Amino acid sequence: MNNVVKGILLYVVGWAAFHYGLFDLMKPKEFSWIANRYVYFLLFVFYCIGFNLVLKLKPPISLNGLVVWLLGLYFYTNILYPPVPWTLLITYMMLWTIGTFLYISQDPVTFAEFRKPIVKTVIGEYKIARYIVFIALPLLVGFGTYKSLEPKFEEPVELRTVHPAPPATTKVHGKSYKLEGLQNPFRTDEQDNYKDSFPFLDADKQEYMKSVTEGGTIFFQNCHYCHGDQLNGQGMFSHVFNPTPANFVDPGTIAMLRESFLFWRVSKGGPGLPNESTPWSSAMPPWEEHLKTEEIWKVILFEYWYTGWHPRTFDEESSSGGGE
Ligand code: HEC
Repeated sequence: MNNVVKGILLYVVGWAAFHYGLFDLMKPKEFSWIANRYVYFLLFVFYCIGFNLVLKLKPPISLNGLVVWLLGLYFYTNILYPPVPWTLLITYMMLWTIGTFLYISQDPVTFAEFRKPIVKTVIGEYKIARYIVFIALPLLVGFGTYKSLEPKFEEPVELRTVHPAPPATTKVHGKSYKLEGLQNPFRTDEQDNYKDSFPFLDADKQEYMKSVTEGGTIFFQNCHYCHGDQLNGQGMFSHVFNPTPANFVDPGTIAMLRESFLFWRVSKGGPGLPNESTPWSSAMPPWEEHLKTEEIWKVILFEYWYTGWHPRTFDEESSSGGGE
């Protein structure tokens, strides 16, 4: 086997073994004087010099130049830590290229040797190389330029308000509710016992748990198809909807909303969303058409009970419900 081919093979195989095998072992989380990325790099450089010396390969200067240049690139892109921004990388690589060139042109003999393949390519002694450099490369560059200049038509980003500000009042089953200050009539305990209810009568939470259980029944009859039986938005139908059904376990949904907001959203569903939530295609049905007012309150109670979240309350702050 030709020495040049042997050398290239040893470089490639060696690099792969170093990079994919040793590199991970040599950069533990804790910095140490032996096992660190710079020692690893030095080892790799020693390997490169070592096999050439041991096997007496005497590589041509063009291959040496290429390897030196690639070693610099490898150092700046993979070894140096923390990574440098690419503008700085280009500056470093320019300096490194100049350095490599100085190394190649250090004396007339090596420089002539380095020039030889280039000159042979230009004058046509290396036919295939000449085709590649003068036909394939320009075509490739031209194609790349064309691709980068070609206008692209990307979809505009959808800026959709997931939690719009609720209206001041909402009308459910013919009755008008002022959302500000509206509370769940069934919440009497679990730290959120509302003032105007009967917090201390229900000492062992029986009344509360009865409402929660009824809410659960309503949930599993109506809502789990979309919101999932673990309330995580992964119901069996959820995958076909965009926006996807809300995940109540996520801290970004009911945990930061008021029960009055939920009352409005559950009653009116997707069709009841205001303009800033467009383009809406929310599959959430307007539940006032199917559930009684107290059933809506109970299912809300259940959603909080199941997930362990507490609704936002009015005395913490008095801005309107959502506004995300
Ligand atoms: C057909 C599927 C479907 C069913 C059934 C369904 N929902 Fe929804 N629901 C959705 C989708 C989709 C959204 C998200 C809408 C959005 O992002 O605007 C949603 C949103 C919600 C929200 C708003 C959460 C938030 O963060 O604003 C609540 C509350 C809610 N659903 C409760 C219920 C309740 C209670 C039931 C059962 C009575 C139910 N859903 C049944 C699809 C469904």
